[in-house]
Amino acid sequence: MAVPTIVLPNGVEIPQIGLGVFLMEDPDETSWAVKHAVYTGYRHFDTAAIYGNEEVLGTALKESGLIREQLFITSKLWNNMQGYEKTKLALEETLAKLGTDYLDLYLIHWYGLDVKGSWLAMEELYEAGKIKAIGVSNFTIDHLESMKEYATIKPMINQVETHPYFPQDELREYMQNEGIVHEAWGPLSQGKTDLLLHPVLQSIADKYQKTTAQIVLRWHVERGTVIIPKSVHPGRISENFAITDFTLTEEDMQEIATINMETRFGRIPNDHEFIERTSKG
Ligand SMILES: NC(=O)c1ccc[n+]([C@@H]2O[C@H](COP(=O)([O-])OP(=O)(O)OC[C@H]3O[C@@H](n4cnc5c(N)ncnc54)[C@H](OP(=O)(O)O)[C@@H]3O)[C@@H](O)[C@H]2O)c1
Repeated sequence: MAVPTIVLPNGVEIPQIGLGVFLMEDPDETSWAVKHAVYTGYRHFDTAAIYGNEEVLGTALKESGLIREQLFITSKLWNNMQGYEKTKLALEETLAKLGTDYLDLYLIHWYGLDVKGSWLAMEELYEAGKIKAIGVSNFTIDHLESMKEYATIKPMINQVETHPYFPQDELREYMQNEGIVHEAWGPLSQGKTDLLLHPVLQSIADKYQKTTAQIVLRWHVERGTVIIPKSVHPGRISENFAITDFTLTEEDMQEIATINMETRFGRIPNDHEFIERTSKG
């Protein structure tokens, strides 16, 4: 079955399943993982300036033999490059590293010190065709509300930590009402919890002859969320993609809702010390 796509507010289609490349630090391993993903059918790749692997990703995608139009590439503006002028510079650097003349999606990585300046620059870069869609990451409802004072274009997507232990129901509902697409980072809870061993997920996995990771990823897909699970292992890269040949029932979804711990395991959006520290330089 083909990978479903989600239509962003401007009509651009984003493949609902992509490969995240956070913490892929070894160039050979990263290159191999990306090429295996392309071979498996992935067309959507999620990186960030701070991951330090834009160049390796760009080269691997070129070597994979696909043409640029077949790919959906996301990158993110790092905190130390926030501001109107610096954002334009940062995009040029990212494009050069990726070896492309446009991004499919550019995100403000965190709600940092000059979101307004960055957003105004991103709106211009979007109008100029250098970015096909623009959005944010790790933004709360308050952050999104505050952008209404100056944004001509509403963020099209918000990429936030989301998994069954932290389903982000309130933010999700807000974004649904605002027409902002929900994208999950840490869709498998980053391997930081016992999520994939949870008996509720295990019993649903047994029913469909799938793994618990596949059940979690399918749960995201049923909720209309864009997912970018990361793995460097070919078997898992394939496993995470093989989730379009079954669906979960309403009852399965309700059961999974019961394991909500309302707890995030990653960084909080308003970690001021982190924002100050990473905004320097
Ligand atoms: N915007 C942000 O602030 C932000 C923050 C974090 C992440 N992200 C993006 O979101 C992407 C995904 O999040 P993430 O990488 O943090 O976490 P994740 O995708 O939830 O989990 C990745 C971890 O799960 C393991 N894994 C992958 N598939 C598995 C499977 N089928 N069974 C068991 N374990 C599996 C991986 O190990 P192996 O690699 O060893 O297989 C890795 O340790 C990132 O790569 C990045 O692109 C964005």
